[in-house]
Parts: sequence; C-alpha cells; structure tokens
Amino acid sequence: MRGINSPFLHLHDLRLVHRRSVEVRGNYKVVLENFLEAYHFRLLHRHTTDRIFDNLGTSVHLWEHGHSMMLSPNRRPDWVDPGTIGMPEMATATTIERNHNPSYLVFPNMIVPISPTGIPAVAFWPQSVDRTILDVIWFAPDWGGGERPPLWETRIANFDRIVDEDIAFVEPIQESITSPGFCGVPLNYQERRIYHWHAELDRRIGVERVPEHLRVPSVLDDWVERD
Ligand SMILES: [Fe+2]
Repeated sequence: MRGINSPFLHLHDLRLVHRRSVEVRGNYKVVLENFLEAYHFRLLHRHTTDRIFDNLGTSVHLWEHGHSMMLSPNRRPDWVDPGTIGMPEMATATTIERNHNPSYLVFPNMIVPISPTGIPAVAFWPQSVDRTILDVIWFAPDWGGGERPPLWETRIANFDRIVDEDIAFVEPIQESITSPGFCGVPLNYQERRIYHWHAELDRRIGVERVPEHLRVPSVLDDWVERD
C-alpha cells in the first residue's frame, strides 16, 4: 500500500459481506484496464454506472509505485443510493465518498471503489496468457450481528450486473489482440492510469529485462502526486 496517500482508505473496521469469483477468457491486462478509465461508462454502463456518475467530471490521480485513483462525481449532488438507505456508514466517511465514486487501483491487481456503506473490491488473478480469475469481494461496516440485512441481495446483484457489463467484451477484445493485424493500442490522456500501470510493471520486472520494443517509457513522472 506504499504510495497511497489518501486519508479516505480506512479498512480496519470492515467485515466480509460476500465473495464472487468468475473466470474470464481474456488476458489479465484486458480485464483490468477496463476498470482504469471512466469514459466507458457511456458505452458499457448506459443504464447503470452512467446514470449515477458523471464521467466528464472525473479527475485522475497518479501515485508512486503504480497506484492511482479516479474520482467521479455523482450526477446529482443530493443523490443517495436507495439500496443503501439505513445501512451503517464507515466512521471516516466524508463528502468525498458520499458525493463521488473514488475508485482506487492498488497496484498491481485490486480495484477498490469506496462508498460510505461498503466496498466491492475487485481483484484480478492471471491464470494463463488468456484466462483471468476476477474476484468481487464485498466489505462493509459491521451491521451488528445477525443475518445480513436483506438490502444486500439487491446491492450485490446490482454490482454483479455492472461487472458483467465490464467483462462482456473481454473475449472479442482478446481475439482481436491476437490477430495478425494487431500492432498495439494507442492510449489517450483519459487513459493515463493504464499507461502508469504499464510503466510501473516494467520497473517491477526491471526495465533492462523488457525487450526494447516492448518498453513503456516513464513519461508521466511529472504528473505523479508524491507524499
Ligand atoms: Fe466499468
């Protein structure tokens, strides 16, 4: 967790709520990268995420050691997820989590979107060059013993639907990147968290061990927010 300098990440008083594991037929990077930019909301999540969060208002933050975060504001400042009303909030919740979706990348393989009443962490585990296990691990403030409150069934199902939208195109994308015509992916400014991830991966491997034509030059250093 070195390099994450946000005061919002307080995980110690949370409990495990639910865990889902799904195998995806695509490379680890194809699956992960979809979670590192916000402009796909309109394309993949027209009836879910895009109705709630404003991708055009998203700010991107790059941190040391490959970590990063994107902060997407709620479309309506007074909006509260009706499926969470009455659920206990984290003691450290602020207006940042109430009025935005702060979505962290903990390098190398965990996406942590935080709301005051729960966190559906998404972890990615490469199985082979074209297979990935995706885990959704829900954490939330303790509801005080007893059975899980019934609201959780809908909440978990709603997020599963969003994840299913995210992985819907993994297989055809995997097919396209293995075609003979594929010669790389140009990244735009809104995708700089993806670039930051790849540059860090080269550093972890050891840049000298990466074939020269595959190296990702560290061009974003001036935009990394440091402690
Ligand atoms: Fe998505």
